[in-house]
Amino acid sequence: MIATPTSLKLIPRPIEATLGSDSLSIAQPMAISYPDAFAFEGEALRELLSKAGAKLSAGKGGNVTVSLVQDRDELGKLGPEGYSLKIDKAGIEIHAATAAGAYYAVQSIRQMLPVSVETGDNTNFAELPHVKIVDRPKFKWRGMMFDVSRHFFSVDEIKGLLDLLALHKMNIFHWHLVDDGGWRIEIKAYPELTAKGAWRTKKDFVWDYLDIEFPGPGTDKPIYGGFYTQTEVVDIVAYAAQRHITVVPEIEMPGHSLAAICSYPELACTAESAKLFTAEVGMPFPNVFCAGKEASFKFLETVLDEMMAIFPSKYIHVGGDEVFKVLWKNCEFCQKRMEEEGLTDVDELQSYFIRRIEKHLDSMGRILIGWDEILQGGLAPNATVMSWRGTEGGIEAARAGHDVVMSPYSHCYFDFGYDKTPTEHVLMFEPIPEDLNPEEAKHILGGQANLWTEYVPDLATVQRMTLPRLASMAEILWAGKPDLEDFSARLTPYRERLRTMGLSQNGEDELEF
Ligand code: ACM
Ligand code: ZN
Repeated sequence: MIATPTSLKLIPRPIEATLGSDSLSIAQPMAISYPDAFAFEGEALRELLSKAGAKLSAGKGGNVTVSLVQDRDELGKLGPEGYSLKIDKAGIEIHAATAAGAYYAVQSIRQMLPVSVETGDNTNFAELPHVKIVDRPKFKWRGMMFDVSRHFFSVDEIKGLLDLLALHKMNIFHWHLVDDGGWRIEIKAYPELTAKGAWRTKKDFVWDYLDIEFPGPGTDKPIYGGFYTQTEVVDIVAYAAQRHITVVPEIEMPGHSLAAICSYPELACTAESAKLFTAEVGMPFPNVFCAGKEASFKFLETVLDEMMAIFPSKYIHVGGDEVFKVLWKNCEFCQKRMEEEGLTDVDELQSYFIRRIEKHLDSMGRILIGWDEILQGGLAPNATVMSWRGTEGGIEAARAGHDVVMSPYSHCYFDFGYDKTPTEHVLMFEPIPEDLNPEEAKHILGGQANLWTEYVPDLATVQRMTLPRLASMAEILWAGKPDLEDFSARLTPYRERLRTMGLSQNGEDELEF
């Protein structure tokens, strides 16, 4: 294991770094150049260096140069996200095969500059250490899931979260857009979803759903909620793409669908089961789409079509977790479907449901991804599995030749308190289970942190639940398990940076973790 040189306190740590003894003062005239393909990255670097006191002119001339070079021949060595970075007396030189690699090089330089760059204070004349770095990520899926259904967060708050992911060299934003707590995305074919389903009677969303109603605005009832227009979604997806983050949208089905079913009750098994949940109705949760009615599939395919038009992601997440199938057992439509399709139990009916949706996504050139319950009753042929109940689902899927994203709640659930999942514990996350052989292990795309928001009502809480644990997740997914003492030393300036950025973090005053 290569520990980070002591004065190079990067999170995640670079794979190879050689620190020189001298440093480069950036308070001298420097010329900056970059190709069109790296324009966003070049400008980001110019802005950063300027904030640290540099005076940059455009072009390749001058004694000291800052250059970003696109080097496709390096693809074999650096991969699609890697970079090399050299800082010496001649200046700063970045090589990358793609803009993503150049972007990550800039994020590394950011962490070498004084934290004052985060506030735009350009009175600080910085020195950068002479260094040679060759860096590339271990995993290609470095994600975070964020639930905006149980509590709603604004476009600017989402962009702030994307900025945070970018700082950590994370590249997937899994956006949990709909659930029992509210429907959060405009669907033009089904306006009731946001006219009604985005607005509930209580701000606090608790698991028992007591007395939750979705009356929509314009009634005399208090309402809480919100949704993203498709125009806003397009803006967020583009913002993420500039930062080399893919937004993977999730539309939950067939369970966790209370907000949809309250908006369109005909999609539930019976009028009775579509009734809003009250203490009297009791279990099971009336939150599943009827798997017998064709209307459910027409609805979901139409929703997915509108989604695919604005989300370029190859992966479309369809949920699939925690389906209360008891309702299907008592539904004449679901029973008829099972008879017609020769399905022996409701697990197979769930499998039928997901396979049908997969066929539709397949026909549009996309890949279905779902929580590990989609294994129940038989996995759809091309599905990717997100393993959350443990690693067993992921192991089973990888052995069957399916791709897997690991996100076991034991290490990856940021809604759990720090008493249960401390920052140090996240560092014990091992995305590739020992049980897998090297061929099977190739199916593990990576991992992700999940932040469910039942008990996360505002941005400060989002930040505190996420920080500093996101540092551990980024470290594991980019570089692998660290030396703990080394990681701890890197956490100190990292925490200072977060503080300077005005972000809340857990254990604000602790230098150790
Ligand atoms: C989940 O936590 N229900 C995926
Ligand atoms: Zn039914």
